[in-house]
Amino acid sequence: MKETQAIIERISRVNTGFQRLHLAVDESLSQIKPGQSLLARPVEAWNPYLREHWWPVTVSAANMIVERPIESRYEPGQVVSLLGVIGQPYRYRRTLRNVLLLSFDTPPTALLMSIGWLLGNRVSVTLVLLGSARQYDTAHLPPELEIIHGEDDFSWPDRVMTVGWADQVFVTVAPDDELGRFAKVWTLFKELRADIPSNYLFGVFQPELPCGVGACQACLVGLRGNTVRTICQDGPAIDLTQVPLL
Ligand code: FES
Repeated sequence: MKETQAIIERISRVNTGFQRLHLAVDESLSQIKPGQSLLARPVEAWNPYLREHWWPVTVSAANMIVERPIESRYEPGQVVSLLGVIGQPYRYRRTLRNVLLLSFDTPPTALLMSIGWLLGNRVSVTLVLLGSARQYDTAHLPPELEIIHGEDDFSWPDRVMTVGWADQVFVTVAPDDELGRFAKVWTLFKELRADIPSNYLFGVFQPELPCGVGACQACLVGLRGNTVRTICQDGPAIDLTQVPLL
């Protein structure tokens, strides 16, 4: 974990709701992996707010692209303080053919970096958008990615096959009630599969991260067996078989 500075070199609009910041970053950040993130704050002016949680989309050498909501204001040439790397990479199985990504009531931002990484490693990827996530315009995503827009009742064509075919599933939900939404997803998978093994269904938790270093305990998640994990250190992806959801 260290603090570095980045420069916003360019800003591009990707759809009606999101923009991408093209950053020149410290080379130490080139090792960042899908699942890991950064805490960002403009350096030119002090502000009392928490750092913004930035999810990289692509990283190469000293360049990084992050996707941010269109309503957040940035300027080319702006210098940003980055704290990170936050969290652990997504723990993919050693042999992996098909991965299912699922976003429920939240944009799939935290999952985007994994799409390019998985497709580049010849893993098939399906992205299912449920609830308000269906409003996320996907025209800029890779054509090899299968994209499914679910219905209000959580249904979509070939749902049993999509779930059965996946070797692993990573789920993001709106942060206002993560446990409640993960419980709905858990119930859905229980209906569609005979059992949910460990290392299969992961919740990607996105709480506020005031410190990012495991010190403030604001991001604790309780697990089975009266244990806890900090999302900033042990997350963001937690195996949902370990989480007492129901
Ligand atoms: S953000 Fe402070 S412990 Fe995780």
